[in-house]
Parts: sequence; structure tokens; C-alpha cells
Amino acid sequence: MAKMKLYYSPASPYARKVRVLALETGLDKKIEMVNVALSPVAPNADVDKHNPIGKIPVLSVKGIDLFDSPVICEYLDNQHKGRKLFPRKGRDRWVALRQQAMGDGLLDAALLARYEGFLRPEERRWPEWSKGQMKKIEGVLGQLEAEAKALKGKPTIGTIAVACALGYLDFRFSTFDWRASHPKLAKWFASAGRTPSIKATVPPPG
Ligand code: BEZ
Repeated sequence: MAKMKLYYSPASPYARKVRVLALETGLDKKIEMVNVALSPVAPNADVDKHNPIGKIPVLSVKGIDLFDSPVICEYLDNQHKGRKLFPRKGRDRWVALRQQAMGDGLLDAALLARYEGFLRPEERRWPEWSKGQMKKIEGVLGQLEAEAKALKGKPTIGTIAVACALGYLDFRFSTFDWRASHPKLAKWFASAGRTPSIKATVPPPG
């Protein structure tokens, strides 16, 4: 297989999903990692050449640039012969894809809140906007708490997405104590956090 190239940043939770899946499947050895810096107000010209949306992660493989993280993860899951992280059919598949949608949805709201509170100049911030994003995050956390039992077991794309989303809360929203009000989810995440692929991809401080 031709060497694949992953454009990523160690802080990006979406890229973290790809990195965890690559480690889980052993495909990490076949991927050249390209660490890039970018934000919505400081685009990266190299990334722009590979993704018209200007976002990471992007996986360049066999002359095609793949994005976004669900597409890259599903592509990689088709490139190995081991246990599939996207269940192939039946209820398990839809449970995992729905979990991925919840993890990614939480992240979409968290990123918008982060940009509002960190990137936007202070005099232009809109507290109701941030509150609206936090409400979405709370909504997902509540649903995941109600469905925490379904997160147990071997990793899937769903549990990887949820773990990366909760990891981003710890990284960028460290004063937000979601654990006290979501004890089952907190217990699951404590255990998921001991998985080598999750441990190896914790974003560095900064
Ligand atoms: C962050 O620093 O929070 C971040 C970096 C890249 C993508 C998404 C988030």
C-alpha cells in the first residue's frame, strides 16, 4: 500500500479520532504524519491545497484527498484485515454511527464555544451564542449518560468519537465539571482513558 499522509494537529480532536483508529488497526505505521498549525482566522495554505474547506484532518492517499474525520476513519477501517471498528451491519452499526454523531456533535458545539471565547475579540463576544453551544454540549452529555451502558465493550468508531469529545472537554474546558452530573459516563471515560491508543494521543498542554 502507498504511504498515506495525514495532515493533523496534536490539539485537534477530530484528527485524534483518526490517530486512535490508526493505532487500533495498526495502520499508524503506514501513515506519514504532517503536523500543521491553523485556525479559522489563520488558515494553512498547505491544508487549503488538499481540502477546500481548509480543515484538518485530511488524509492524502493514492492521489485523492480524503476528509472529514468520519470519511477518513471509514476509509482506514477498510484498509486492514482485523476486527472492524465500523460494525458492518445490523443494530451495532447504527449504534456506533449514532455515537459518532453525538461525539462529533458535541465537538462541533465545543469548537464554536472555544472560538467564541478565545479567538473572537472580547468586545465582539456574544454570551448567548456561547450559552447556546454549552446547551448542546449538555444535551449530548445527558444522552450519553442515559446510554452509557452501550459504550462498554471493544472500541468502535462510536466509542472512539465519544472518548475524543470528552477528552477535548478536559483539554479546553477544564473548569467544566461534567463528571459530577454524569457519573456513569465519567466511569466509562476513566476506563477508556487507560486504553493505549487513547493515552498515546492526549493533546499536549498549550
Ligand atoms: C484547539 O487548539 O483547540 C484546536 C486545534 C485544532 C483543531 C481544533 C481545535
